[in-house]
Amino acid sequence: MHFLVTAGPTREPIDPVRFLSNRSSGKMGYALAEAALAAGHTVTLVSGPVALTAPEGLTFVPVETAQEMYDAVATRIHDAGVAIFCAAVADYRVASIAEEKIKKSADELTLRLVQNPDILGSARSVFGFGGLLVGFAAETNDLARHALDKLRRKKCDLIVANDVSRRDIAFDCDFNEVSLFFADGTREDLPFLTKHEIAAALIGRIVALAPQERQ
Ligand code: CTP
Repeated sequence: MHFLVTAGPTREPIDPVRFLSNRSSGKMGYALAEAALAAGHTVTLVSGPVALTAPEGLTFVPVETAQEMYDAVATRIHDAGVAIFCAAVADYRVASIAEEKIKKSADELTLRLVQNPDILGSARSVFGFGGLLVGFAAETNDLARHALDKLRRKKCDLIVANDVSRRDIAFDCDFNEVSLFFADGTREDLPFLTKHEIAAALIGRIVALAPQERQ
Protein backbone atom coordinates (compact mmCIF):
# COMPACT_ATOMS: atom_id res chain seq x y z
CA MET A 1 0.00 0.00 0.00
CA HIS A 2 1.13 3.59 -0.51
CA PHE A 3 1.17 5.90 2.52
CA LEU A 4 1.21 9.69 2.46
CA VAL A 5 2.40 11.16 5.76
CA THR A 6 2.57 14.83 6.77
CA ALA A 7 5.01 15.69 9.56
CA GLY A 8 6.64 18.50 11.48
CA PRO A 9 5.60 22.10 11.96
CA THR A 10 4.94 24.67 9.27
CA ARG A 11 6.73 28.01 9.18
CA GLU A 12 4.77 31.12 8.35
CA PRO A 13 7.04 34.03 7.36
CA ILE A 14 6.63 37.49 8.91
CA ASP A 15 9.50 39.17 7.03
CA PRO A 16 12.68 37.85 5.32
CA VAL A 17 14.22 36.74 8.65
CA ARG A 18 11.30 35.96 10.98
CA PHE A 19 8.50 33.41 11.10
CA LEU A 20 5.64 31.99 13.21
CA SER A 21 5.86 28.29 14.03
CA ASN A 22 5.37 25.76 16.84
CA ARG A 23 7.26 23.18 18.92
CA SER A 24 6.63 20.16 16.67
CA SER A 25 9.84 18.11 16.19
CA GLY A 26 8.47 15.83 13.46
CA LYS A 27 9.46 12.74 15.48
CA MET A 28 6.01 11.11 15.41
CA GLY A 29 5.52 11.63 11.67
CA TYR A 30 9.02 10.40 10.81
CA ALA A 31 8.52 7.35 13.07
CA LEU A 32 5.27 6.60 11.22
CA ALA A 33 6.99 6.89 7.84
CA GLU A 34 9.76 4.53 9.02
CA ALA A 35 7.27 2.04 10.47
CA ALA A 36 5.28 1.98 7.22
CA LEU A 37 8.49 1.38 5.23
CA ALA A 38 9.57 -1.36 7.67
CA ALA A 39 6.19 -3.06 7.17
CA GLY A 40 6.89 -3.20 3.42
CA HIS A 41 4.81 -0.23 2.23
CA THR A 42 5.81 2.70 0.03
CA VAL A 43 5.77 6.18 1.54
CA THR A 44 5.62 9.84 0.55
CA LEU A 45 6.67 12.07 3.44
CA VAL A 46 5.60 15.72 3.21
CA SER A 47 7.56 17.47 5.92
CA GLY A 48 7.87 20.92 7.39
CA PRO A 49 11.32 22.08 8.59
CA VAL A 50 12.72 19.69 11.24
CA ALA A 51 16.16 18.66 12.52
CA LEU A 52 15.66 15.02 11.45
CA THR A 53 17.10 13.21 8.44
CA ALA A 54 14.51 11.76 6.09
CA PRO A 55 14.57 7.95 6.14
CA GLU A 56 16.04 6.35 3.03
CA GLY A 57 13.75 4.66 0.56
CA LEU A 58 10.81 7.05 0.59
CA THR A 59 9.71 10.01 -1.52
CA PHE A 60 10.60 13.10 0.49
CA VAL A 61 8.81 16.39 -0.12
CA PRO A 62 10.16 19.24 2.02
CA VAL A 63 7.88 22.26 2.51
CA GLU A 64 7.85 25.35 4.68
CA THR A 65 4.41 26.94 4.85
CA ALA A 66 0.92 25.51 5.36
CA GLN A 67 0.03 26.59 1.82
CA GLU A 68 3.04 24.69 0.42
CA MET A 69 2.04 21.62 2.46
CA TYR A 70 -1.53 21.94 1.17
CA ASP A 71 -0.32 22.10 -2.46
CA ALA A 72 2.09 19.16 -1.97
CA VAL A 73 -0.70 17.03 -0.48
CA ALA A 74 -3.26 18.09 -3.10
CA THR A 75 -1.05 16.84 -5.94
CA ARG A 76 0.05 13.58 -4.25
CA ILE A 77 -2.83 12.28 -2.12
CA HIS A 78 -4.48 10.45 -5.01
CA ASP A 79 -1.53 8.05 -5.25
CA ALA A 80 -2.07 6.98 -1.63
CA GLY A 81 -4.29 4.31 -0.10
CA VAL A 82 -3.62 5.73 3.37
CA ALA A 83 -3.07 9.37 4.35
CA ILE A 84 -1.81 10.18 7.84
CA PHE A 85 -1.88 13.85 8.84
CA CYS A 86 0.61 14.16 11.66
CA ALA A 87 1.90 17.67 10.90
CA ALA A 88 1.35 20.50 13.36
CA VAL A 89 0.11 22.92 10.72
CA ALA A 90 0.01 26.58 11.74
CA ASP A 91 -3.66 27.54 11.85
CA TYR A 92 -2.84 31.15 10.91
CA ARG A 93 -0.36 33.02 8.72
CA VAL A 94 0.57 36.67 8.55
CA ALA A 95 -1.86 38.52 6.27
CA SER A 96 0.85 40.41 4.47
CA ILE A 97 4.52 39.37 4.59
CA ALA A 98 6.90 42.35 4.84
CA GLU A 99 9.32 42.42 1.90
CA GLU A 100 12.01 44.00 4.02
CA LYS A 101 13.06 43.25 7.58
CA ILE A 102 10.65 44.97 9.99
CA LYS A 103 12.58 47.64 11.91
CA LYS A 104 12.02 48.28 15.58
CA SER A 105 10.14 51.58 15.91
CA ALA A 106 6.92 51.92 17.94
CA ASP A 107 6.52 50.31 21.39
CA GLU A 108 3.87 47.95 20.06
CA LEU A 109 3.60 46.00 16.84
CA THR A 110 0.40 44.32 15.71
CA LEU A 111 0.48 41.45 13.21
CA ARG A 112 -2.76 40.69 11.38
CA LEU A 113 -3.23 36.93 10.91
CA VAL A 114 -5.49 35.09 8.46
CA GLN A 115 -6.52 31.46 8.58
CA ASN A 116 -4.54 28.80 6.70
CA PRO A 117 -6.32 26.09 4.69
CA ASP A 118 -7.22 22.97 6.71
CA ILE A 119 -5.33 20.23 4.86
CA LEU A 120 -6.86 17.27 6.70
CA GLY A 121 -10.28 18.91 6.48
CA SER A 122 -9.85 19.21 2.69
CA ALA A 123 -8.87 15.56 2.13
CA ARG A 124 -12.44 14.28 1.57
CA SER A 125 -14.31 17.47 0.73
CA VAL A 126 -11.85 19.17 -1.67
CA PHE A 127 -9.36 16.50 -2.82
CA GLY A 128 -12.01 13.74 -2.98
CA PHE A 129 -9.71 11.29 -1.18
CA GLY A 130 -11.36 7.86 -0.85
CA GLY A 131 -8.63 5.99 1.05
CA LEU A 132 -8.03 5.53 4.75
CA LEU A 133 -7.77 8.88 6.48
CA VAL A 134 -5.96 9.31 9.80
CA GLY A 135 -5.74 12.57 11.73
CA PHE A 136 -4.09 13.66 14.95
CA ALA A 137 -5.66 15.75 17.68
CA ALA A 138 -3.54 17.68 20.15
CA GLU A 139 -5.77 18.74 23.02
CA THR A 140 -5.36 20.34 26.42
CA ASN A 141 -8.88 19.52 27.67
CA ASP A 142 -11.93 17.34 26.90
CA LEU A 143 -9.80 14.94 24.84
CA ALA A 144 -12.56 12.51 23.83
CA ARG A 145 -15.12 15.18 22.96
CA HIS A 146 -12.69 17.15 20.76
CA ALA A 147 -11.25 14.01 19.14
CA LEU A 148 -14.69 12.64 18.25
CA ASP A 149 -15.72 16.03 16.90
CA LYS A 150 -12.61 16.08 14.63
CA LEU A 151 -13.20 12.46 13.56
CA ARG A 152 -16.69 13.35 12.27
CA ARG A 153 -16.01 16.86 11.00
CA LYS A 154 -12.94 15.85 8.97
CA LYS A 155 -14.45 12.47 7.95
CA CYS A 156 -11.52 10.43 9.29
CA ASP A 157 -11.33 6.68 9.84
CA LEU A 158 -9.13 7.19 12.88
CA ILE A 159 -8.09 10.07 15.13
CA VAL A 160 -4.96 9.71 17.25
CA ALA A 161 -5.41 12.00 20.24
CA ASN A 162 -2.97 13.14 22.88
CA ASP A 163 -2.98 15.48 25.85
CA VAL A 164 -0.54 18.29 25.08
CA SER A 165 -0.92 19.87 28.51
CA ARG A 166 1.46 17.16 29.85
CA ARG A 167 5.14 18.11 29.67
CA ASP A 168 6.43 14.49 29.58
CA ILE A 169 4.77 13.49 26.30
CA ALA A 170 3.89 14.66 22.79
CA PHE A 171 5.52 17.88 21.51
CA ASP A 172 9.29 17.58 21.10
CA CYS A 173 9.44 14.36 23.20
CA ASP A 174 10.52 10.80 22.37
CA PHE A 175 7.45 9.42 24.15
CA ASN A 176 3.71 9.76 23.90
CA GLU A 177 0.53 8.31 25.34
CA VAL A 178 -2.26 8.33 22.79
CA SER A 179 -5.90 7.33 22.56
CA LEU A 180 -7.31 6.03 19.30
CA PHE A 181 -10.84 6.98 18.26
CA PHE A 182 -12.18 4.88 15.37
CA ALA A 183 -15.03 5.79 13.01
CA ASP A 184 -17.10 2.82 14.28
CA GLY A 185 -17.20 4.46 17.71
CA THR A 186 -14.60 2.28 19.40
CA ARG A 187 -11.79 3.72 21.50
CA GLU A 188 -8.41 2.21 22.35
CA ASP A 189 -5.98 3.72 24.88
CA LEU A 190 -2.35 2.83 24.19
CA PRO A 191 0.04 2.91 27.17
CA PHE A 192 3.00 5.27 27.61
CA LEU A 193 5.35 4.23 24.78
CA THR A 194 8.16 5.56 22.61
CA LYS A 195 7.02 7.25 19.42
CA HIS A 196 8.61 4.36 17.46
CA GLU A 197 6.51 1.84 19.43
CA ILE A 198 3.39 3.93 18.88
CA ALA A 199 4.17 4.20 15.16
CA ALA A 200 4.52 0.41 14.79
CA ALA A 201 1.23 -0.15 16.67
CA LEU A 202 -0.55 2.48 14.55
CA ILE A 203 0.65 1.07 11.23
CA GLY A 204 -0.64 -2.35 12.38
CA ARG A 205 -4.08 -0.94 13.30
CA ILE A 206 -4.28 1.07 10.04
CA VAL A 207 -3.37 -1.89 7.80
CA ALA A 208 -6.00 -3.99 9.61
CA LEU A 209 -8.61 -1.31 8.73
CA ALA A 210 -7.67 -1.21 5.02
CA PRO A 211 -9.72 -3.28 2.58
CA GLN A 212 -7.93 -6.54 1.70
CA GLU A 213 -7.55 -5.70 -2.01
CA ARG A 214 -5.64 -2.47 -1.21
CA GLN A 215 -2.95 -4.26 0.83
N1 CTP B 1 -4.42 19.88 10.20
C1 CTP B 1 -4.21 20.11 8.85
N2 CTP B 1 -4.24 21.39 8.37
C2 CTP B 1 -4.43 22.44 9.19
C3 CTP B 1 -4.62 22.21 10.59
C4 CTP B 1 -4.61 20.94 11.04
O1 CTP B 1 -4.01 19.15 8.09
N3 CTP B 1 -4.43 23.67 8.70
C5 CTP B 1 -4.48 18.50 10.70
C6 CTP B 1 -3.35 18.11 11.61
O2 CTP B 1 -2.27 17.53 10.90
C7 CTP B 1 -4.04 17.09 12.52
C8 CTP B 1 -5.48 17.57 12.60
O3 CTP B 1 -5.67 18.40 11.45
O4 CTP B 1 -4.08 15.81 11.93
C9 CTP B 1 -5.85 18.28 13.87
O5 CTP B 1 -5.57 19.59 13.80
P1 CTP B 1 -6.15 20.65 14.83
O6 CTP B 1 -5.49 21.95 14.55
O7 CTP B 1 -6.03 20.10 16.22
O8 CTP B 1 -7.68 20.67 14.43
P2 CTP B 1 -8.65 21.88 14.25
O9 CTP B 1 -9.83 21.37 13.55
O10 CTP B 1 -7.92 23.02 13.59
O11 CTP B 1 -9.10 22.19 15.70
P3 CTP B 1 -8.61 23.22 16.78
O12 CTP B 1 -9.74 24.15 16.91
O13 CTP B 1 -8.38 22.34 17.99
O14 CTP B 1 -7.34 23.87 16.27
